[in-house]
Amino acid sequence: MTLVQSTSQERRAVQEDATFSHFHGFPETTLLESGKLPIAEIAKLAMREGQYTNPLYRVHRWFARRLGSQFRSILTGLSLSAAETSRFWDTLLGDVPLDGAVVLDPFVGGGTSLVEAMRCGAYVIGYDIDPVATFITRFELQAAACNPESGEIAELRGSIATQIAPFHRTKVKGREHEVLHHFWVERRTCRSCGTTFEIHPHFQLASSKEKRLQWAFCKACHEVYELPIERKEIHCRCGTRTRIRQGTLNRGKVGCPTCGNITGLADRGDSSTPPKWRLFAHEYIEQNPSGVTRHFKKATKEDCICYGKASRLLKEIEDSEGLFAPMREIPTDSRSDQRPIIHGFRRYRDLFNDRQLLHLTLLGKAIAAVAEPRVRRLLAMAFSEHLTTNCMYTAYAFGYPIFRRFLTILLIHQ
Ligand SMILES: C[S@@+](CC[C@H](N)C(=O)[O-])C[C@H]1O[C@@H](n2cnc3c(N)ncnc32)[C@H](O)[C@@H]1O
Ligand SMILES: [Zn+2]
Ligand SMILES: [Zn+2]
Repeated sequence: MTLVQSTSQERRAVQEDATFSHFHGFPETTLLESGKLPIAEIAKLAMREGQYTNPLYRVHRWFARRLGSQFRSILTGLSLSAAETSRFWDTLLGDVPLDGAVVLDPFVGGGTSLVEAMRCGAYVIGYDIDPVATFITRFELQAAACNPESGEIAELRGSIATQIAPFHRTKVKGREHEVLHHFWVERRTCRSCGTTFEIHPHFQLASSKEKRLQWAFCKACHEVYELPIERKEIHCRCGTRTRIRQGTLNRGKVGCPTCGNITGLADRGDSSTPPKWRLFAHEYIEQNPSGVTRHFKKATKEDCICYGKASRLLKEIEDSEGLFAPMREIPTDSRSDQRPIIHGFRRYRDLFNDRQLLHLTLLGKAIAAVAEPRVRRLLAMAFSEHLTTNCMYTAYAFGYPIFRRFLTILLIHQ
């Protein structure tokens, strides 16, 4: 999957189209060095920023991102002398005068340091051992020049959506609806009694405190029920009783529902086999005169046939055009965190199901063919970011705009 070539140049992020002006130097003793920065007030500002971070810093996730206000405070403290405590807030909220200064971050990470320095007029340079970090940073530094409304993007969106949309539809009472999320669960065979069962932490898909409702499903047939939020059990039409909170996964331990044998979630026996999945439910949207409403339903035979069609189309494309998604193994050396390998994901490809791979192949190829480099980089950034939720290693968080990365209840998000 190569959208952007990685070379040693890729480990560097500098500001394009910078205009140089003369920098008069930092004060002899800066406010930052004097130790008189108003730390408590800066922390309050940072807390507020943390509630709603700058959208630029949400374009692509990066671990351990510091907030813009923290860097701007440091830069403000650098631009003032130790005697200028009273000018701190006016300067921070106005113009921090770093015109022509050069700011270097040799471990640039998500790029916040450089973006904030650039906003203060500095010429910025960043390096990182990880080319993804410099790719993100370079994008952030050039974002103002990108036009997300470009015709090329609209055209690409239209053509890919037309090809992918038929695989994200489901029928309810004879009417077709658009699927928002597909729910998959891992299936495992008990090493003690041989039963194959599903690993669910509980049998609830979603709940709403405001509506006092929950959507839960039968552990045997997956029929979905809308129930009062306090309800503990489902008495399904199929005759099965489901204790909604009593799943087969509890605190990293998997319990066989037949013989009670307990194993660790990561204890896979032969860890070289990727997880086996089952599609069991969907969240779909219904268009009605008052807008759009979200609903849940169990996955039917027809839904599995629809998935099968996506699998076949992927195979046809890969047979005739070669693989777009890499077969490469996830590196195992020098890892401080053994996930996702301990969960059976050995190759990058294992992280996606066939419908996701079809989507990624069609979209990725179309992005790679975009001629205008800035537009291509913008799309590549969005593509990379959306891999984290369009994969089998993510969990659904109803009511939140975020997704926890974990398995068992899994989804794709179009
Ligand atoms: C936590 S980030 C710091 C980001 C930024 N400087 C900040 O303060 O927000 C640390 C970065 O250092 C990078 N890094 C680690 N070892 C490195 C090395 N030897 N050379 C260059 N970058 C390295 C990592 O890839 C990571 O992106
Ligand atoms: Zn049932
Ligand atoms: Zn068993």
